[in-house]
Amino acid sequence: MKDVYILGIESSCDETAAAVVKNGREVLSNIISSQVPLHTLYGGVVPEIASRKHTEKIVPVVSEALKSAGMTLSQMDGIAVTYGPGLVGALLIGVSFAKALSFSSGKPLLAVNHIEGHIAANFLSEPELRPPFLSLVISGGHTHLVRVDDYGEFTVLGRTCDDAVGEAFDKVARAIGLGYPGGPKIEKAAKLGDENAYSFPKARVEGSVYDFSFSGLKSAVLNTLNKAEMTGTEVRKEDIAASFQKACVSVLCDRVSLALKETGAKQFVLAGGVSSNFAIREALKTLCEKKGVAFHVPEPVLCTDNAAMIAAAGFIEYEKGRFAKFSLNAVPNLKIGEKE
Ligand code: KG4
Ligand code: ZN
Repeated sequence: MKDVYILGIESSCDETAAAVVKNGREVLSNIISSQVPLHTLYGGVVPEIASRKHTEKIVPVVSEALKSAGMTLSQMDGIAVTYGPGLVGALLIGVSFAKALSFSSGKPLLAVNHIEGHIAANFLSEPELRPPFLSLVISGGHTHLVRVDDYGEFTVLGRTCDDAVGEAFDKVARAIGLGYPGGPKIEKAAKLGDENAYSFPKARVEGSVYDFSFSGLKSAVLNTLNKAEMTGTEVRKEDIAASFQKACVSVLCDRVSLALKETGAKQFVLAGGVSSNFAIREALKTLCEKKGVAFHVPEPVLCTDNAAMIAAAGFIEYEKGRFAKFSLNAVPNLKIGEKE
């Protein structure tokens, strides 16, 4: 069988990324230009700055991805690009660039949903992985519990009703003065804290056993901080971080445990930027081991935003012959499983 090479392009938030992936499984190059230091100045992602930076970086990043894979554009079989969800201005840079590249090279255009990309990162880290499996996608913008029935076939069981789990990490980090990006900083601080210092709520969503709510947890942290300030009580950041992280771990494990029981899934796949958190990885791994379920999670560099995962998801589109039209547009609120 002929090998298939996909060039992936990602620009949905604050990373400009490009990668070359062979047969949807093997990463030949994975170039990521992060804008984090730029946005740190403002305490979060500034959409207009993100778009401008993507415009500057897209050409060198794509060139570097081809060069470091030792390949040329003419050797690619398809060009995969994230078209949603994400920041509209940021998405448009990648989409416009990929369309132009596809038009000029004659290579098929493959439209990829960013969340489906996060799940597909597991096909890169675990070459033998095949659907069906249960997946939890936890990132800065998304918290989804999904049944992956087959390649490119998704049934959403639960999602967040308010903040995504990564968003809660970022907001709590800001509140305790750790700055942006909050996730890794909370994780680091939590290692030095007492996770039983505070008992934060683990919200359930009425009427929907698989849904999540993180805004209550975030508010509970803010209330604790406000109360401490008013009463002049000293608060250790590390204890807040550890107690908050413990509450997140507990909520995630609770929903996954129920979903594993009720779906009878034999494999569980963790995905998204927050899954680079060691405490979350370990807790879900232990849960799966106890239940005799195979546990998979990509290495941290494939958990946070990258284009190799977009190429891996693009390969599925390629195999299904689902080629995008040049009328493809950015869809900021694209839902998982939705097609352009
Ligand atoms: O998947 P991702 O790179 O971008 C989105 O699609 O949103 O995820 C970014 C999110 C941010 O909220 C960041 O704080 C969080 O992932 N994150 C973490 C860790 N590393 C990144 N959260 C907790 N612990 C970490 N180690
Ligand atoms: Zn992401």
